[in-house]
Amino acid sequence: MAITTKFTKVFGVDAPIAQGGMQWVGRAELVAAVANAGALGFITALTQPTPGDLANEIAKTRNLTDKPFGVNLTILPSINPPPYDEYRRVIVDSGVKIVETAGSNPAPHLPMFHEHGIKVLHKCTSVRHAVKAQSLGVDGISIDGFECAGHPGEDDIPGLVLIPAASRQIDIPMIASGGFADARGLVAAMALGADGINMGTRFMCTAESCIHPNVKHAIVAGDERATELIFRPLRNTSRVASNTVSREVVEILNNGGQFDDISHLVAGVRGRRVFDDGDLDAGIWTVGTSMGLIDDIPTCAELISRIVDQAEQLIAGRLAQSITTPSEVAV
Ligand SMILES: Cc1cc2nc3c(=O)[nH]c(=O)nc-3n(C[C@H](O)[C@H](O)[C@H](O)COP(=O)(O)O)c2cc1C
Repeated sequence: MAITTKFTKVFGVDAPIAQGGMQWVGRAELVAAVANAGALGFITALTQPTPGDLANEIAKTRNLTDKPFGVNLTILPSINPPPYDEYRRVIVDSGVKIVETAGSNPAPHLPMFHEHGIKVLHKCTSVRHAVKAQSLGVDGISIDGFECAGHPGEDDIPGLVLIPAASRQIDIPMIASGGFADARGLVAAMALGADGINMGTRFMCTAESCIHPNVKHAIVAGDERATELIFRPLRNTSRVASNTVSREVVEILNNGGQFDDISHLVAGVRGRRVFDDGDLDAGIWTVGTSMGLIDDIPTCAELISRIVDQAEQLIAGRLAQSITTPSEVAV
C-alpha cells in the first residue's frame, strides 16, 4: 500500500513527505537517505561555501542515490548577498529537477528554472504569500506554520488554521510544514487540506543527519516548550533552541537593544560549533516545537516507513471505524 497525493504525483516521489532545506544539516548523506526511503530531500545550497562546492555536494548525493532529490535555495535580504545567480546556474547545470525556494519572492529565479524543466516548491509562512507564489507559477507550496523551526514569519498563525486557510485558495500541490514529526501529523495535515508534510526538526534527529550526537540527544530530551523566538522586535523572528545564548539575545532585544548589540551572540560560526562540536551553548541553533514529539534517532528509512504505515493504519483503522450508521449508534 502507499499514500498517493497530488504532491507525490507532481514531484515523482513515493511518500508524501519532504525534508526541507536546513542550514548546516541538509547535506548529501541525509538527502540521499531521505530519497532512498522514497521521500523528497533537499540539499541546502547556502550550506556550501561556494557554488562549486554545491556542484560537488550534488555529485556526492548522486553517488548515494538514483532517486529524485532537490536543492533548497534560501533567498534572504542581506547586506552582502551570496552569488544567487551562480548557485542557480550550478543547480541548472547539475540536472537537478526540483528546487525548494524560501525566504522571499521566488520570481527572479522562476523563468530560468522553468526553462530547464525544474519544478519549484515554494515555502512560505502566510496565505497571501502562498497565493502570490501560485500566481507566479510555482509548481507547489510548502506552507510553514508558527510551530516551525527557523523563520515562522510575523503573523503567528499555527498550522491548525493556516493549512485549511491556505488550502481554500491553493489548487497546486501543497504540503504542510512546521510541527510535524509522526503519522498523526501526516493524517492531520491531509485532513486539513494538505497533500503531504515537510519536516525539518524530525529529520535533524535521524541516524544519517551529520550533526553532533549531543544535539540529537538534546532534541530527544527536549519538550515542546524548549525553544525561543529571537529577533521578534526586529521583525525577523526565528525559532531556535532555548539556551543561555538565545535567552540572552531575547533579553537584550526586549530591553531595547539593536542588532549590533547581539551580532556577536548570533554569529553563524558560533551556531555551527553547536552542530560540529556538540557544545549546546556555543551559539544559537535552529529547532522547532516538534521536539516535544521526538523520542528516538531512527534511520530515515525507518522513520518514513513508520510514518506511512502508521498513517495508513490510522486512516483505515481508528478513523474509518469511527464512522457508524444510525443503527450501530442505537445499539
Ligand atoms: C537546523 C535547521 C536549519 C534550517 N535552515 C533552513 C534554511 O536554511 N532554509 C529554509 O528554507 N528552511 C530552513 N529550515 C526550516 C526547515 O526547512 C523546515 O521548514 C522547518 O524545519 C519545518 O518545521 P519543523 O522543524 O517543525 O519540521 C531549517 C530548519 C532547521 C531545523
